[in-house]
Order: sequence, then C-alpha cells, then structure tokens
Amino acid sequence: MDMKVKGRSVVVLAASKGLGKATAEAYAQEGASVVIASRSREELEQTAEEIRQKTGSRVKAVPCDVNDLESIRALISKAAELHGGIDILVTNAGGPPPGTFDSISDEQWQQSFQQVLLSVTRLVREALPWMRKAEAGRIVMIASSSVKQPIDGLILSNTFRAGLSGLAKSLSQELAAENILVNIVGPGRIGTDRLKQMDTARAERTGTSVEELQNQAQAEIPAGRYGTPDEFAQAVVFLGSGSNTYITGQTLLIDGGLVKAL
Ligand SMILES: NC(=O)c1ccc[n+]([C@@H]2O[C@H](COP(=O)([O-])OP(=O)(O)OC[C@H]3O[C@@H](n4cnc5c(N)ncnc54)[C@H](OP(=O)(O)O)[C@@H]3O)[C@@H](O)[C@H]2O)c1
Repeated sequence: MDMKVKGRSVVVLAASKGLGKATAEAYAQEGASVVIASRSREELEQTAEEIRQKTGSRVKAVPCDVNDLESIRALISKAAELHGGIDILVTNAGGPPPGTFDSISDEQWQQSFQQVLLSVTRLVREALPWMRKAEAGRIVMIASSSVKQPIDGLILSNTFRAGLSGLAKSLSQELAAENILVNIVGPGRIGTDRLKQMDTARAERTGTSVEELQNQAQAEIPAGRYGTPDEFAQAVVFLGSGSNTYITGQTLLIDGGLVKAL
C-alpha cells in the first residue's frame, strides 16, 4: 500500500530511540523527509545517520527539549526551513515518573503537566501555520494505553494522558474542515528501553526476577508477547499519512489485546 508520504515533511519528537526512533525510520522507509528531535545531540545524530544509511531518505537531527518553549519554536522553524514546511507532526516525550497519589509531589505534577500535555499544545501551535499553508496536515500523538484504562502505579500518566485525549478530540473537531487530522496512538507494552526500566523497577519492588516478571506480563497480553517498535510505528505512519483521509479524533491502541475496555 502506498502510504502517500513520499517527499512529505515529517517531524518526530523524542526520536533518538524507542517508539519515536522506530516511527521516524518507518516514515523514512516510505520516502518521507524526516526531522528527528530529542535532547541529547550525540545520540540523535547517531540515530539520524543510522536511519539515513538504512533508508536513503533525508533525515535530519535537531535537538529539542519538549519542556522548553524556545526549544520547541526553534525546532519547528528549523524543520520547516530544512524541508520546505511541515506536513506531519508526531508528538512524543519521555514518560512521567511512576508513583501512586501519596508519593507524588507538587513539582512532579507541574513537571508532568508540562512534559505530557503542555508540550503537545505548544508543538501543535507552532506547526499549525505550516499545515494551514499546505492546506493539509496530520498530527499523531503518542500516548499510552492508560488513555483507555488507567495503569496501577502510574497516576501521572493516567491523569495527563486523559487530558491529551480531550485535547486531541477537540482539535480534531476544530481542524477537520481544514483537512488536518488528529489522532492518538496508545502503546500497550512495546519492547523499548522505557519498558525495560519499568519492568526492572517493578521486579525490584515486588522481589521478583525481571525474567519472571516479564513472563507474567507477557502472559497477560492476549497476543502472548510484547509488541515491537516497528509494529507500533506502522500504525503511526498510516494514521499520519496521505492514505488516511477520514480518520480523525480517534485513539488507536497498539497493545496485542491487553486493554479490555470497549
Ligand atoms: N514502550 C512502551 O511500551 C510504552 C507504553 C506506554 C507508554 N509509552 C510512552 O511512550 C513514550 C515513548 O516511550 P519509549 O518506550 O519510546 O521510551 P524510550 O525508549 O525511553 O525513549 C524515550 C525518548 O524520549 C526522549 N526524551 C525524553 N525526554 C525528552 C524531552 N524532555 N524532550 C525531548 N525528548 C525527550 C529520549 O531522548 P533524550 O533523553 O535524548 O531526550 C528518547 O529518545 C513515553 O512517553 C512512554 O511513557 C511507552
């Protein structure tokens, strides 16, 4: 299937590794021109080079901290300059810290609001003029399965990703007439560094070995295993492509059947 992203300008946040990296690579495989962003310049440059080598597409690294407004502004203007505009925006960031209500400080609430929710409003605000100029646009927000079903011990994610869901739905209503489609993708358990860290922390808390914990965690998934970053990325690329012409305001879980909510 032709995804209709060849030559389109794509910006993928938090893309030096994990889900963002896999998404950037999947766009590049389809011939898009991609800007990847995250904080550490060295890791980002290495990732960009790796994707260029694999795909032969135009891939540029532009460092950005999503917690910093000026950094977001600089990223979007640089990306537009490099690839002649912005057609597709994939928002993403590191996940908020784990914890239950009693363990979370005011500072952590503020910080997580900024990282999970405010960063996305800022990125969309900066990218929209370019999409309007192109008279089309696609926005895909990477969130979590916690959008549909809260996850124990992740109260910050549960709270702010639900907010993201409200934002995406409202934006989809406001922008559909301009051919700008907005959707959320929610990973369940996808094999990245973040998942490894979460599993290791949980194993320590519960006095289990990481292997045993992962076996249990995979057995809870109807598909019987963790997803791969590439499986996740294929869904992002479709929603954020020219082939998606009528899906907007939706949340798609990529979770192997983990979440039972309708
Ligand atoms: N993997 C899963 O199964 C899963 C499940 C549910 C939700 N999620 C969520 O999906 C998102 C991505 O997860 P992942 O598994 O890909 O994580 P990961 O492998 O740990 O990668 C995180 C990426 O985010 C970047 N990043 C972190 N803080 C940033 C900031 N302030 N500004 C810009 N970039 C930043 C990191 O690069 P730098 O450190 O260089 O900035 C890195 O590229 C997270 O929000 C996570 O909570 C993942």
